[in-house]
Amino acid sequence: MEMIIKETAETTSITAARWVARLVREKPNAVLGLATGSTPLKLYQELIRLHQEENLDFSEVTTFNLDEYIGLPRDHEQSYYTFMWKNLFSQINIDPKKVHIPDGMAPDIPAACAAYEEAITQAGGIDLQVLGIGSDGHVGFNEPTSSFASRTRIKTLTRQTLKDNARFFDGDESQVPQHCITMGIGTIMDARCTLMLAFGKAKAEAIAAMVEGPVAAVVPASILQHHPHAKVFIDDEAASGLQRADYYRWVYDGKPEWQIDA
Ligand code: GLP
Repeated sequence: MEMIIKETAETTSITAARWVARLVREKPNAVLGLATGSTPLKLYQELIRLHQEENLDFSEVTTFNLDEYIGLPRDHEQSYYTFMWKNLFSQINIDPKKVHIPDGMAPDIPAACAAYEEAITQAGGIDLQVLGIGSDGHVGFNEPTSSFASRTRIKTLTRQTLKDNARFFDGDESQVPQHCITMGIGTIMDARCTLMLAFGKAKAEAIAAMVEGPVAAVVPASILQHHPHAKVFIDDEAASGLQRADYYRWVYDGKPEWQIDA
């Protein structure tokens, strides 16, 4: 894992966006894996700015989102479909035909999950997967004890995740759907590189467990220790539980010119 620690969520997101933009400029038909939640919002804002002010072109980019709630219609204000169109897609020149988000209303969900995996394969695999982390260490909606070999499938959310996400549903935990479709951990690990973002003290424990704890299914994100190209962009607060934070900062600050890509 490569740790990139910046002072604030804003500077961290801008640095991460530069890395995404570099990929899109080098490979205009890149396949991006995207995430929802509050964490990637600033990254998306910066990508929109780069599109509007610096001509970052998304016309040939294909996207696959990590997850979606089961039972929320696409036009529900808390569906991840609505989230993505509101916070990113409507403000860049993406081709709607190249956007993929799991359909939580599909009549045959297992078949829709298998088709989603197939579509990723047909697109040539994911070049870069954006990830957030749940306070319990989940990635996508792969809750603790998810199989490291899992593919896109139905999952049941933990009480903790329902509690965490209740803020988007008028603070009412009972309104948060209990089930979801999520890319599996195996799907995420197949991405050619991963870009994890985490901000704030509430994520410090999960980040410490992911980076410095043992690789274990109880902390799904810890599998990224086995990924050959995993970058972790976090702010000082999210880094506050790391024992070796000074080392990571020293490595990043001392990167030779020829090695700098973020
Ligand atoms: C949600 C999403 C994840 C996200 C995580 C953190 O449940 N399914 O993809 O990374 O929880 O959310 P937030 O960024 O709002 O803290």
